[in-house]
Amino acid sequence: MPVGSRVAVLFSAALVFAGTVLGARSAAAQATVSVACGSVGAEFDLCKTGAEAWAKKTGNQIKVVSVPKDSNEQLALFQQLLSQKSGEIDVIRIDVVWPGLLAQHLVDMGKEVPRDVIAQHFPAIIEANTVSGHLVALPAFTDAGLLYYRKDLLEKYGRKAPTTWQDLTETAKIVQDGERKAGNDKIYGIVFQGRAYEGLTCNALEWVDSFGGGTIVDGQGKVTINNPKAIAAIKLAASWIKNIAPEGVLNYAEEEARGAFQSGNAVFMRNWPYAWALSQAPDSPVKGKVGVMALPKGGAEGKNTGTLGGWQWAVSKYSKNAKAAVDLAMYLTSPEEEKRAAIEVSFNPTIPALYKDKDILAKNPFIGELLSTFTNAVARPSRATKSKYNQVSSEFWNAVHEVLSGKSDAEASISKLEKNLNRISRNGKW
Ligand code: GLC
Repeated sequence: MPVGSRVAVLFSAALVFAGTVLGARSAAAQATVSVACGSVGAEFDLCKTGAEAWAKKTGNQIKVVSVPKDSNEQLALFQQLLSQKSGEIDVIRIDVVWPGLLAQHLVDMGKEVPRDVIAQHFPAIIEANTVSGHLVALPAFTDAGLLYYRKDLLEKYGRKAPTTWQDLTETAKIVQDGERKAGNDKIYGIVFQGRAYEGLTCNALEWVDSFGGGTIVDGQGKVTINNPKAIAAIKLAASWIKNIAPEGVLNYAEEEARGAFQSGNAVFMRNWPYAWALSQAPDSPVKGKVGVMALPKGGAEGKNTGTLGGWQWAVSKYSKNAKAAVDLAMYLTSPEEEKRAAIEVSFNPTIPALYKDKDILAKNPFIGELLSTFTNAVARPSRATKSKYNQVSSEFWNAVHEVLSGKSDAEASISKLEKNLNRISRNGKW
């Protein structure tokens, strides 16, 4: 199917208007603002209740739109809408790697939002959302990859939480095999995001960077991925498939990994902070049995590293209700809303002051304990590769997926990737 019609199908299937909320004021004063809420974990409800509260407070109306789960599928949908200058969605939630891809279609928040409101957020996140001097979105939450583990099972087998990926590989095998002998034939050592999509780029960047193998493309635009450390990292991950990771992980995104871990069928899981609150929900089979920590190092000489993620609220330039839309984006990124998100769905705030908030730390202590993991997270090369980032990422995730699925060996796949990236970038000129 040609890409255009694929996106059109996606669009009609994905764009579900989930309801309109009437505010209190007269119809004449009201705008109807449509807002695209994500749908991973509990975020749709969080977004909907936030938007409804804003509608009630301001007397406007909202239309809540649900979009696909995978980041790159959302991007395809928004690119399609925005390139048509569609006013269909006013407020869009954008991924931290998209500002350079969508900037031309987004309202400059720097002109609309008071300086002191912007200054509440981490300067690095504001910087990441600034393209050619324009602030294209207001940060809502930040993310970094984390390691979740079963405290009870590590204790049962006398194993410590792993400090290196090599340790993890060994511990995962020992616990998995022990538990299988004890009768849980569904259990695996580790689950992660192995589908060929943006999430695999995040996972594989963590493996590579933790081994000291760089960030695919460096800050100056040079393609660096074809190096022995990167290859060793990807090979180690490929060795997990069918040994300590289910073959199905090759099609897992965030929610499939969480489903396996939360139902008690994995010893370790790589996932984002949102998985914490859900794993501790009253009906979670692993409630009280889970630990969370920084991802392991790639060997004793390596480093702990988590990929930087996160989402922000932007307003479409084609919105017919831009004023009200900016107001909604401000509301959704206010300290009160970020606090509610941190408590209810364990989203990491983008407002430093909230890392000292007693209610947040009491409910989800890891948010404070792992602060350095979040502030030291490794960025994907979206700034260096500019409008080509999505192409770079899809070349990378496909090359890694080929290795994980045994279709290609790591050396051949990474060398081909290097050639493709040099071709796309016209040798680093991007
Ligand atoms: C999370 C991250 C986002 C990333 C995505 C990949 O939502 O916050 O930055 O692109 O996962 O699946």
